[in-house]
Amino acid sequence: MDKIFTLRLSDDRAAVEILDQTLLPNEIKYLRLEDAQALFEAIKELRVRGAPAIGIAAGYGMYVLAQKIAFEERGKFYKELSGLGEYLISSRPTAVNLSHAVERMLSAAKGHGKKSALPLLFEECTRICDEDRAMCKAISENGLTLVKDGDGILTHCNAGALAAYEYGTGLGTLLLGKERGYNFHVFSDETRPLLQGARLTSFELNHAGIDVTLICDNAASMLMKQGKIQACFVGCDRVAANGDTANKIGTRSVAVNAKYHGIPFYVFCPSSTIDFNCESGDKIVIEERSGEEIKTKFFEKPIAEDSVKCYNPAFDVTDAELITAIITERGICRYPYKESLKNMFG
Ligand code: MRU
Repeated sequence: MDKIFTLRLSDDRAAVEILDQTLLPNEIKYLRLEDAQALFEAIKELRVRGAPAIGIAAGYGMYVLAQKIAFEERGKFYKELSGLGEYLISSRPTAVNLSHAVERMLSAAKGHGKKSALPLLFEECTRICDEDRAMCKAISENGLTLVKDGDGILTHCNAGALAAYEYGTGLGTLLLGKERGYNFHVFSDETRPLLQGARLTSFELNHAGIDVTLICDNAASMLMKQGKIQACFVGCDRVAANGDTANKIGTRSVAVNAKYHGIPFYVFCPSSTIDFNCESGDKIVIEERSGEEIKTKFFEKPIAEDSVKCYNPAFDVTDAELITAIITERGICRYPYKESLKNMFG
């Protein structure tokens, strides 16, 4: 199979090109996103997903949209760009990378008319992507110091190259380890209801030649008891200043189970996902999605009656005390995170 890419700015710089992840693993199809509605829809529907990838898409997206703004004058240009930024941010509330990227693009444009803003915006979105790449590589290096050849690793959701630009966060250590000759045994839980573990993580690791076994979410506890799991690896969508971590729904159950079994639970976190303005997990807005994702989306026939109520939070918050370590690009932080994250990032 040709090397696939998650997203990029098109050669003519007029569109964000993304791999449509809703079609994986059955179809490889790329989309060209050229306007605000298409960008909004692609993020909302998880065609492009994963906190770092959403941030990069928003950065490139703001540059693409800025080129189409009809006003040259700085006040009107900035107002229009801010409105577009607000619109993109409203597509998904939990991953902080989205608003971080939009805010960075707006600061780059501030005080400039369209003509002088465009090159600055291009530089900034390129920087957002390059930084992500470098952070993922550094996180992966740091992660490798925590595991050894032959370890069994449980993953939840997808925190690989499909969720970032390269390597990813939670899967980066496994991908880098493979390049360095490590043989990990990865258990990818399916991650109900949108099945990122089944559709994306097992696909990504399988194609990287890593030993991966797909399990149901509810098999994880048994595997822990059987001694098959030496560590749990997850990504994150927003880490509060005290270390409470929002990530895909079900992450907290993995952490509680890991604690019970004495297995380390690691969160892989680029600094772009830390929200120092958010004191604790209680303040994180959790995205709620349609019940159809639970009842019908991946089934030939509905698995519950139409009239049955559903509650479908897309993320949960894992309490800081349950997290063995947070692995960042600068190093490894340990509990209490309020101090260790602050010391690491000043
Ligand atoms: O709803 P998704 O698929 O965007 O959720 C993604 C996750 O929860 C990932 O684990 C997280 O964004 C980290 S990605 C490096």
